[in-house]
Amino acid sequence: MTLHAIVPAAGIGSRMRATLPKQYLPLAGTSVIEQTLKRLLQVRGVGNILVAISESDTYWPGLGISSHRRIQKVNGGRERADSVLNGLRVLRQKADDNDWVLVHDAARPCVRVTEIEQLIETCSSRGEGGLLATPVHDTMKRSDNANRILETVPRDNLWHACTPQIFRLGELTEAIVTALESGYPVTDEASAMEQAGQHPLLVECSSSNIKITRPDDLALAEFYLGSE
Ligand code: C5P
Repeated sequence: MTLHAIVPAAGIGSRMRATLPKQYLPLAGTSVIEQTLKRLLQVRGVGNILVAISESDTYWPGLGISSHRRIQKVNGGRERADSVLNGLRVLRQKADDNDWVLVHDAARPCVRVTEIEQLIETCSSRGEGGLLATPVHDTMKRSDNANRILETVPRDNLWHACTPQIFRLGELTEAIVTALESGYPVTDEASAMEQAGQHPLLVECSSSNIKITRPDDLALAEFYLGSE
């Protein structure tokens, strides 16, 4: 199989309340994005990695990893889905629509290489797209806008969708374009594929595959990386 990777890294991370975009915050001796890319570079079978960087980003060129021979910068977009779509369009100029694409958030530096390889193996052997995910263990509540509980949502069969997510290049591009055109909120690749009538496979991963979102998450990520 031919496998490419896209890393959306064009967010500003406003919930971190930091002066740097969250992917550049220091983590375990380097930065969040370097930790993430280091892992992807170790995954068996992954060819080039396209990293979507905001056009106003001045930090990326300063990182040593930006000149790695397997890493290529593409322009980020307004939303995450636009960043991913830019990467897919660049890939499509030279790759085959049947090639597989792994999409992984720059902000998930603790993902385990073995779990990514498990995802690739499971999906490619079944010929189906899928994603890493963790089952929900908490009791789930839906609220009104004033934070009052409206209902308890049964947690059976509920999952947290993580990344990487893996799909075929052609199908994923078409699904995202169609979903965006119809105004559907594309918060991950699987949601676009669902809109296209697919039922992507959930492959369980460790709960350490956190997305750096709030200030506390950095200490937690440091802990997870140190305890591997
Ligand atoms: O903001 P959030 O945590 O959902 O972002 C998930 C990933 O998508 C991050 O790695 C972020 O850099 C990326 N992103 C992007 N382009 C945007 C917004 C977010 O590549 N316009």
